Amino acid sequence: MSGLFISFEGNDGAGKSTQVEKLALHMRKKGFNVCTLRDPGGTEISEKIRRIILDNANYKMNHMTEALLYASSRCQLVHEKIMPALRAGQVVICDRFVDSSLVYQGIARGLGIETIKQINSFATGGLEPDITFFLHLDPAAGMKRKRVQGELDRMENEKNSFHNKVNQGFEEIMELYPMRIVRLEANEPVGRIAAQIAYCIDTYINERGL
Ligand code: TMP
Repeated sequence: MSGLFISFEGNDGAGKSTQVEKLALHMRKKGFNVCTLRDPGGTEISEKIRRIILDNANYKMNHMTEALLYASSRCQLVHEKIMPALRAGQVVICDRFVDSSLVYQGIARGLGIETIKQINSFATGGLEPDITFFLHLDPAAGMKRKRVQGELDRMENEKNSFHNKVNQGFEEIMELYPMRIVRLEANEPVGRIAAQIAYCIDTYINERGL
């Protein structure tokens, strides 16, 4: 398949959406046709599923229900937006993807990485990003940023122990995919992080002659 699929991962409050927009601008300046998306979300149906998942009223949600809803939202996103964009040769930049499910549902919720891989392989047809930027931030600092931004959703409202497991989980996933995932420190100035990401992508593109 042509096109380039880039994802961003990290703890809540790590500043992914800011970096998604900065990278999109960088890529557009280079002449690429860029599509930015978020997971869960990014299509009308997926945004509806997102609201169900994050609604604080749904505190009774079973962990497996949660995992399946993330996978359903992602299935729609892949088939409606990501695959068509990649087939058309576009650069797709996605705020989170399957790695988040491996970490949040597989590790932090304890459902197991293999189970989550299987569900998601069915949902996405095995699609993986070409390159993933993991923005690492101390979980306490991330939640502090989130509280300043407004009301917390169902996932953000989880206990500190859950957010610590997420943080640890991302380190585990990095070890599983060392060739694909690039780790960056999210407490550095926004401009410096953006420059590091732009440098990585430019190198990646040059090496592959894209
Ligand atoms: P966002 O606010 O970064 O868009 O993500 C929404 C929340 O959902 C965030 O707390 C991370 C969580 N999440 C999962 O638990 N599993 C997933 O597969 C994804 C994509 C997000």
